[in-house]
Amino acid sequence: MVLIKSLVVFIGIASVQAACVPKGYKQRSSRTSKTYNAVQATAVASNAYTGKSSSATIDRSTATASQPSATASSTSDYGPPQTPSSTTPANGSWWKPTLDTKLHYQLGKDFDLATDVKDGVTAYGIDGYVTTAEVVSSMRTKGLDAICYFSAGSSEKGRPDDGDIPSEAKGNVLDGWPDENWLDIRNTAVRNVMIERMKICKQKGFVAVDPDNVDGYSNKSGFDLTAADQLEYNKFLSDTAHGLGLGVGLKNSVAQIADLVDSFDFAI
Ligand SMILES: *[C@@H]1O[C@H](CO)[C@@H](O)[C@H](O)[C@H]1NC(C)=O
Ligand SMILES: *[C@@H]1O[C@H](CO)[C@@H](O)[C@H](O)[C@H]1NC(C)=O
Repeated sequence: MVLIKSLVVFIGIASVQAACVPKGYKQRSSRTSKTYNAVQATAVASNAYTGKSSSATIDRSTATASQPSATASSTSDYGPPQTPSSTTPANGSWWKPTLDTKLHYQLGKDFDLATDVKDGVTAYGIDGYVTTAEVVSSMRTKGLDAICYFSAGSSEKGRPDDGDIPSEAKGNVLDGWPDENWLDIRNTAVRNVMIERMKICKQKGFVAVDPDNVDGYSNKSGFDLTAADQLEYNKFLSDTAHGLGLGVGLKNSVAQIADLVDSFDFAI
């Protein structure tokens, strides 16, 4: 069977600003302040889990032509459907972007409502640990949606729960990120840490999560991770998020977008 689905994808860098990096922030944070516009991706998949005949294309041209109206609500969560499908999980009550959602990413400093709100941008990808519940709550009163960033595929030195990740589940250092190690995503303790992280996101009032580094299988992780392991883990992440009533974005695992289009609410 061939499935044709569409997914809202955030792509494009509108601005990069130098972030001031307080002590204790990991390196990744220092260069990340970007605004993304949504476009529509169409994923064509057959034979999920084999990777065969699987492709995803990002079509910028449909983004403006088929924008849902500003008043459209949860019925157009996946953007305009390419093909109606009975398997689309359309009844989730969690947050999902539409094609007119703009996403701003800011991981390098605390989110400051006085200075960090961008014109026309309602969704903000910010650090799940550093951001306080008070900040998230203030954002909500201004109609801003906070998306909880955490690394789901790497350990990061200095994170308060890093000690809960067993050393045997920490693999090779990530290229360019000396304080991060790829995780053995099959490890139960690793998964429990991710469940706790998402619960913290929920408690703080975030509307969605942005689990990073979910493509370890295609990197030299130090573990023998297969594409099927990664798909299963990424579905575990999306199921956990949805179970908490959180939306979930797929980061960088573009090669698997066709197999995950039903499980994720947007892609970055
Ligand atoms: C959608 O609704 C059905 C029936 O009400 C329910 O069984 C199912 O779990 C719901 N799915 C999601 C993704 O919420
Ligand atoms: C992981 O591998 C992908 C290609 O499969 C590459 O694009 C990405 O940069 C790698 N990530 C890291 C952190 O090295």
